[in-house]
Amino acid sequence: MVNIAVMGYGVVGSGVVEVIYKNRESILKKCGKIIDVKYILDLKDFPNSPYQEKFVKDFNVILNDDDISVVVEVMGGIEPAFTFVDACLKRGKSVVSSNKELVAAKGAQLLKTARQNNVNFFFEASVGGGIPIIRPLHQCLAANQIYEIAGILNGTTNFILTKMIKEGMSFDSALKLAQELGYAERNPSADVDGHDACRKICILASLAFGSHVYPQNVHTEGITAITLEDVAYAEDWGGVIKLIGRANKTEDGKLQVMVSPAFIQNDSQLANVNDVFNGILVRGDTTGDVVFYGKGAGKLPTASAVVADVIEEVKSPGTVRSLRWEDSTGNNVEDTATYQAQMYVRAQGQKAKKEIEAIFGEVWYLARQNQPLDEVAFVTPLLKEGELNHQFQQLEAAGVSILAKIRILDY
Ligand code: HSE
Repeated sequence: MVNIAVMGYGVVGSGVVEVIYKNRESILKKCGKIIDVKYILDLKDFPNSPYQEKFVKDFNVILNDDDISVVVEVMGGIEPAFTFVDACLKRGKSVVSSNKELVAAKGAQLLKTARQNNVNFFFEASVGGGIPIIRPLHQCLAANQIYEIAGILNGTTNFILTKMIKEGMSFDSALKLAQELGYAERNPSADVDGHDACRKICILASLAFGSHVYPQNVHTEGITAITLEDVAYAEDWGGVIKLIGRANKTEDGKLQVMVSPAFIQNDSQLANVNDVFNGILVRGDTTGDVVFYGKGAGKLPTASAVVADVIEEVKSPGTVRSLRWEDSTGNNVEDTATYQAQMYVRAQGQKAKKEIEAIFGEVWYLARQNQPLDEVAFVTPLLKEGELNHQFQQLEAAGVSILAKIRILDY
């Protein structure tokens, strides 16, 4: 029997405990050992829980118990999660985490600490919920040089956009529903402002390109400015709006990483990733495109990935298989002004078309039902973002108000 501790008894933590007991027999067959939860760390009381006797409030009980060789961290946030995980690794305990904020901020450091202490730091659940993506990137696709990753990485925003696109539901009602279903972060800004997707693309980029990409260096836009008008213009263009996290390595080895809403063509694999599902496209030099798809949020899908990491550890304890990337100093992400971009623009002005054509030349105009006479929507030529921004300034200076700008991506 292997005793583990679970730190955090929220949506994911309670799912982890549930899966461990529900699938006890099949887990035994897979790893040859019974996995038992000895401690659950949480400051709250759970008087009606069947696991009453397992709850502790003092982290040191877990740290000082040599019987615990694997610790699950599903608390979320950077502190005290970082202090607890760091202490566990230094005590020779392997750690499994679902905490994308922690991995995105401290991954390189914690991976190094794990290696130095001959233990593992696993975090399959930190990206894509129940979708296997970390281990496939690290192991199954290891022969490739990955040059691009693009994904719908946040279930809550995908759920909201899907409700807006398919049901014309308001942003607020869709967010409320996502919260009720347990998809959203405690602070919904992390979802709707793109920070959660940013953390996840940082983790994938760090893993794929070998150098830690820090969230503060990544241009991040959320979906709060997306309107049903934009959704209608996207439909006329032949696609849908999705929140995309993307990372690529240029031919001269520079990293381009960004999170933003984007127009995606209807025939793209990512266009049909709906509701809480996530989809991640990985481009490798030997495989070409590989797409991962599944439930990106929710109690049991995320718990599935956490428990799989626990099983991996329990199957061969003492074997160090920690993932690896190096820390980076300074900003290793290119300025977005250098990225090639094409944009959808919604603008307003009496003589808007004349000004648009004077600045951009011939453009593709889009239309929607009930379009006001002074509203114009168009697609810009493909240019560097820096040049486009300069042209947008010229357009505003000519008296045309820009109401919305959304990148157009070709995946
Ligand atoms: N709030 C996150 C999402 C949870 O909606 O994707 C899973 O990381």
